Amino acid sequence: MYRLVFTQVLQRFDAEAVHRLTVAGLALLARLPLLKRLLHQAYAPHDPALRVSAFGVHFPGPLGLAAGFDKDAACAEGIAALGFSHVEVGTITAHGQPGNPRPRLFRLPRQRALINRMGFNNEGALAAARRLRRPRSVPVVVGVNIGKTKVVPESEAVGDYVASARTLAPLADYLVVNVSSPNTPGLRNLQAVTLLRPLLTAVKEVADATPRRTPLLVKIAPDLADDDIDAVADLALEIGLDGIIATNTTIRHSGEQGGLSGRPLKKRSLEVLRRLRARVGDRLTLVSAGGVEDVDDVWERLLAGATLVQGYSGWIYGGPLWAARIHRQLAVRVRRHGMKSITEAIGRTA
Ligand SMILES: Cc1cc2nc3c(=O)[nH]c(=O)nc-3n(C[C@H](O)[C@H](O)[C@H](O)COP(=O)(O)O)c2cc1C
Repeated sequence: MYRLVFTQVLQRFDAEAVHRLTVAGLALLARLPLLKRLLHQAYAPHDPALRVSAFGVHFPGPLGLAAGFDKDAACAEGIAALGFSHVEVGTITAHGQPGNPRPRLFRLPRQRALINRMGFNNEGALAAARRLRRPRSVPVVVGVNIGKTKVVPESEAVGDYVASARTLAPLADYLVVNVSSPNTPGLRNLQAVTLLRPLLTAVKEVADATPRRTPLLVKIAPDLADDDIDAVADLALEIGLDGIIATNTTIRHSGEQGGLSGRPLKKRSLEVLRRLRARVGDRLTLVSAGGVEDVDDVWERLLAGATLVQGYSGWIYGGPLWAARIHRQLAVRVRRHGMKSITEAIGRTA
C-alpha cells in the first residue's frame, strides 16, 4: 500500500517539500495528546524483551531514527509514536543557518537510496533548546546531534561546538559530535585525530558538567580509511567517550553532489561496524547507521556488536510504520532464538 502511495503520489512531489510536510504533520501530532498516546500505545515497542540499555539510558528497543530528519527538534514525540525507540535530532549548529540552495535532496528509488546536500539547515541551538524544554506526554529518548556553523572557520570550530553543547547538553539524553557530514566545507577534516582530540575533550568537559552527566558520542563517515577508523576508536577510548555512531552518508558515488545514504551504503557501514567492534569490543557503545532496510539488517548489526541501530532512508522507502514493524519482527526473532532479551544477541558473531 505504502509503495503504491510512494510511487504514484509522493514521488511526484519535490522530496524536500514532502519532508517538510511530514515534519509539520508530526509536529501537529505532538499537539494532539490523545491521538499521540493512542499511536504510541499501538506502535511504540513495549515488549520487555526488546529493551536495551546504553550509557546509562534505557531504550524501549534498539531501532531509532538517525539524525537529519528532525533537524530542529520539532517532532520527536510524533516520531516515537510511530515506533522508533529513540530520535536523534539535529544536526543543530550554534547559530541558525539556511543550508545550501535547493534542490538539495534527491531520491534514487531504484537503488533505495537518497542523496542530500542539505548543509545543516536549522534554526540554531537556542531555538532547538526552547523546543526540547517543552513537557512531553509520551516517553521518548532524544539524542542531540551538534555540528559546526558554516561561517565559523575551522580554527574556531571548538568554541562553536562548545557553545552548542552548553545550550543543548543539559536537555539531551545523549549528545553527538558530528564531524562527518559531507555538506559543510572542511567539516570532515575534524575527524583527523590532531583536530578531533581538542574538540572532543572540550565538548566532553561540558557534557560531564551537566547534572546527569550527558553521555557523549562521535559520529563518523564511512569514507575514513581503516587506519583512521582505528585511530578514532582509540581516541574515543582514551578520552572516555560513551560511543561511536557509524556511519554518516558517503561521498563515494557518481551521482548528484552530496552524501549518499540507503541501500548502497549497507556493505561499508557494516564493515565499519565490524572494524570498530574488533578494536573496542564492548568498551564503547556502537550505534550502527547506514543502509538498514529490514529486520535482517537490524539483526545483523546487533550480532556484529551494535547496541543501537538507526535508520533514515529505510524509513522513507519502508513507510511510516517501518520501525514499528521491525520492532515487532525483532521480538519474534528473539524468541525464535530462545533468547529472553535482545541484549543476548549483541556481539554474538563479533
Ligand atoms: C536527508 C538527510 C539528511 C541528513 N542529515 C544529517 C544531519 O544533519 N546530521 C547527521 O549526522 N546525519 C545526517 N544524515 C545522515 C543520517 O543520519 C544517516 O547517518 C545516513 O543517512 C545513513 O543512514 P540510512 O542509510 O539509513 O539513511 C542525513 C541523511 C539524510 C538522508
